[in-house]
Amino acid sequence: MREILDELEARRARAHAGGGDRRIASQRAKGKLLARERLEVLLDEGSFEEWDMYVQSPDGDDEQIPGDGVVTGWGMIEGRRVFVFSQDFTVFGGSLSEAHAAKICKIMDQAMKVGAPVIGLNDSGGARIQEGVASLAGYAEVFQRNVLASGVVPQISAIMGPCAGGAVYSPAMTDFIFMVRDTSYMFVTGPNVLKTVTHEDVTPEELGGAVTHTTKSGVADGAFENDIETLLQLRQLMGFLPSSNREKPPVRATQDAATRTEPSLDSLVPADPAHPYDIKELIHKVADEAVFFEIQPTHAANIVIGFGRIEGHTVGFVANQPMVLAGCLDISSSKKAARFVRFCDCFSIPLVTFVDVPGFLPGTDQEYGGIIKHGAKLLFAFAEATVPKVTLITRKAYGGAYDVMASKHLRGDVNYAWPSAEIAVMGPKGAVEILHRDVAGDAGKIETLADEYRQRFANPFIAAQKGFIDDVIAPRETRTRIAGALSLLRGKQLENPWKKHDNIPL
Ligand code: HXC
Repeated sequence: MREILDELEARRARAHAGGGDRRIASQRAKGKLLARERLEVLLDEGSFEEWDMYVQSPDGDDEQIPGDGVVTGWGMIEGRRVFVFSQDFTVFGGSLSEAHAAKICKIMDQAMKVGAPVIGLNDSGGARIQEGVASLAGYAEVFQRNVLASGVVPQISAIMGPCAGGAVYSPAMTDFIFMVRDTSYMFVTGPNVLKTVTHEDVTPEELGGAVTHTTKSGVADGAFENDIETLLQLRQLMGFLPSSNREKPPVRATQDAATRTEPSLDSLVPADPAHPYDIKELIHKVADEAVFFEIQPTHAANIVIGFGRIEGHTVGFVANQPMVLAGCLDISSSKKAARFVRFCDCFSIPLVTFVDVPGFLPGTDQEYGGIIKHGAKLLFAFAEATVPKVTLITRKAYGGAYDVMASKHLRGDVNYAWPSAEIAVMGPKGAVEILHRDVAGDAGKIETLADEYRQRFANPFIAAQKGFIDDVIAPRETRTRIAGALSLLRGKQLENPWKKHDNIPL
């Protein structure tokens, strides 16, 4: 028995040695943790059970390394089970072989059966070049599972090294992507290929670094300083999510009373309707203990999305941000919010929507870019969502954007407005210019007519008279009223008509 146990230890040590000292030193020199070290940070202490440590590629000319470049298994985050894979860049650059793919597929299949999230720590040069089509087949097997698992179990990706080719398409199909600043990249084709094909000269950071993908492209949802911060933030995120679509998100005990009032909110909206204010102040003042986990904070900042809790229950906040582009909806913000709304709907997370939107952003850029179709994504997402929907109009709700932002007409369950709300087809100035072309150039007359219009239309009471707003509430009471609405809606049942699937305007 002693000999057998020694043999086991020796085999384990061989697997833990990965690609060897030189490559491990190179990984460390870049400030990166090793694959197993990352799992130690991500998971509750001592909870990781590794599977398939001894798997290796079929014998060929190449060196064999047990585990084949990926560490897989399951463990706990705050006492809840998750399946994980963590690619080992020291073994063939974390590239994906047939055996490597089979390990990932095994944990994905098991996660689906037991209803647990899949978290992938990606650090991979893509398809293993030496394996040819077998590695492409491996990727396709992973992709297929990403698609089948979508909306069944949460799938989260951390990008923790240079990820190319297939190594970015699998994360792209997962629900959230986090990146590490300065050490992680995502691109379909790297800078060298770009130089040859298009003669563009860009650094990996410019082409696909964390800043690029969390500001310009919106591919990634968060960028963090280093491996440890990224993994700890991932743990935070998981705390808001259910394990699968068969469960509700976990409820966290809170000392923050639902009856807490916030007198400061009475003066949040400035007297001048043209002046901005920070909608995040409202989110922080409404959420339990002011905790708000923002998704995509630096991309399309004219809309704010993220998770918080009210009375311990997870909610998804969607809010126009008057500080950026006056809170207009444009292509990027519509896509950003639509995907988030659909995520929340998949996983039984109620939606709390704060509206202050002057309309869709005008311009040829937007029209040529397809704002019609992209704006429709958000409309579609809110309309199809069956989770509890509580909406509050703080100030402007003009035109089509009024309809889009979880209005009563899109099956909003409880729709509130502050007294400062202005709900109309368009703003006073625009309306007067169209309705009274005869006074064009007469600033005094335009102002008088705009005032009349404001009195008549730009208030919440016409909508309230029609029952499109359930109540006009005092800003200070917002948390209490939203908590009450969500509590009322906890047993909500609503199903969309049977269909194979819908045809959202992609
Ligand atoms: C096999 C690979 C590899 C790969 C890297 N390595 N990528 N081995 N297959 N795809 C190996 C290297 O040979 C090297 O081995 C080690 O990993 C580290 O690589 P370096 O190049 O030294 O590291 P670095 O300078 O950090 O650059 C990392 C990199 C680069 C940016 C990922 O290696 C690279 O561009 N790799 C190729 C990326 C790629 O084009 N992949 C195929 C995509 S096609 P040693 O022995 O020296 O340590 C694809 C198909 C799927 O994925 C399609 C889905 C739609």
